[in-house]
Amino acid sequence: MEIIHLSAECYPIAKVGGLGDVVGALPKYQNKLGHVAKVVMPAYQTKFMQENEFEVVYDGWGKLGFHNFPVRIFREKTNKLGFDLYLVHISGLLDRPNVYGYDDDTERFLAYQIAVLDWITQWEHRPDVIHCHDHHTGLVPFMMAYCHQFKKLSTVPSILTIHNAQYQGQFGWDKLHYVPPFDLWKSGQLDWKGSINPLASAIKCAWRVTTVSPSYLEEISFKANGLEDLLAQERAKSVGILNGIDNEVWDPQNDPMLEKKYAIRTVENGKKANKEALCRVFNLDPLKPLFTFIGRLVGEKGADLLPDIFYNALLQANGGINVLVLGSGDPQVEGRLMQLKEAFPGNYNAYIGYNEQLSHQIYAGADFLLMPSRVEPCGLNQMYALRYGTVPIVRRVGGLKDTVVDIGDGGFGICHDQTSVWDVGHAIGRAYELYHDEKHLKEIRKYMMQLDHSWDRAAQQYIDLYQI
Ligand code: ADP
Ligand code: GLC
Repeated sequence: MEIIHLSAECYPIAKVGGLGDVVGALPKYQNKLGHVAKVVMPAYQTKFMQENEFEVVYDGWGKLGFHNFPVRIFREKTNKLGFDLYLVHISGLLDRPNVYGYDDDTERFLAYQIAVLDWITQWEHRPDVIHCHDHHTGLVPFMMAYCHQFKKLSTVPSILTIHNAQYQGQFGWDKLHYVPPFDLWKSGQLDWKGSINPLASAIKCAWRVTTVSPSYLEEISFKANGLEDLLAQERAKSVGILNGIDNEVWDPQNDPMLEKKYAIRTVENGKKANKEALCRVFNLDPLKPLFTFIGRLVGEKGADLLPDIFYNALLQANGGINVLVLGSGDPQVEGRLMQLKEAFPGNYNAYIGYNEQLSHQIYAGADFLLMPSRVEPCGLNQMYALRYGTVPIVRRVGGLKDTVVDIGDGGFGICHDQTSVWDVGHAIGRAYELYHDEKHLKEIRKYMMQLDHSWDRAAQQYIDLYQI
């Protein structure tokens, strides 16, 4: 099959969160199964663009409302990611350093979607499936089905994967003229509660809808930032497919970013060396249990509670634990996490910002990784933690529920029910006890590391789904 993935992020070209990891890995694994999976994404102004070789495969013009814009599509020449990568260059709109966060994001992602469909419509053949990821590509299923200029694609199956239903990309009807011409009586397919809502439109128009874990699919019929009724309505064409992880990138045996590489057999020594290196840099004591958080500092992740959670835990442990945070997001939370450094020097530290290498070092060097998420469609961090022999402490929600089994149930992680200072504090207490039960901890580390969360299974599940 020829599969076209459309996404705003793809690791290592541009990554803000897990979406980038997924789109950087799934196509590779689909190719390994004998298919031809390609990624077509915006060409941002990133290091990847400057450091690699490209050929131009398309030069054309797109139209956004009354505005015509030139489009150039590049193909990365060496297939270095294990799949064909195409980058859509639209001067003045996409060629910026960041992926999101601009006032004209609506225009940027609409122009990208229109340019992609213009290009694919001109191919001599049709791809077997167009796979859209999140709301930035959410108007594609509608445009394929109803816009006159893309009529040739109306019989190509479109798939929507919802990585996060919190973000929907809605904008006002005053921008309807951005959408290429279609029969106006189809407008309802764009609408949700009085706005043009790309995610809602994709849920309505895509041939199949997937979520990134089975539990998240159950949850969003009840709670999905206003889309729950629609999701309940479209339940019959929806399926939850648990994400995998890229075992080649996330492999403690072969990870060039680590202080010391290690395998299941050598996990104790390997983790010790990585922990010592990490503690040296962050002025922490390697003999104490190291608790960490990695992620976007937003409400969904429970980040607003982290300062209180850590304050209480550090106070109670009376110097007996270490905490290290890596993240960025809400400036208020960032500020409070920085302040904690003064209260607990030698036991607490934080790196505010994005740092891919440091994240690998933390997965390897930490003892415990916290994920007190309010919402977690899948979550990749806990799976990286497992692969690196780090015990996840997670709230029972979404994909966390589908991947972590509590030690009390014969499992390998620590689970709690609520995103509250009390519940997480209790979980940290249990972790502290586990840390001092050396034999049990050693067994668990080995057990976690042999769990298989690679993409092989999910890649095939998507292929099965495409055979509509
Ligand atoms: P989400 O996509 O909701 O942010 P996921 O758990 O799916 O959550 O994926 C998060 C990804 O982003 C992981 O690869 C994680 O290591 C990475 N990440 C998040 N914040 C940072 C950061 N500050 N520095 C480096 N990597 C980060
Ligand atoms: C989203 C979700 C996260 C998921 C990721 C990849 O960003 O918040 O839970 O793991 O997408 O699917």
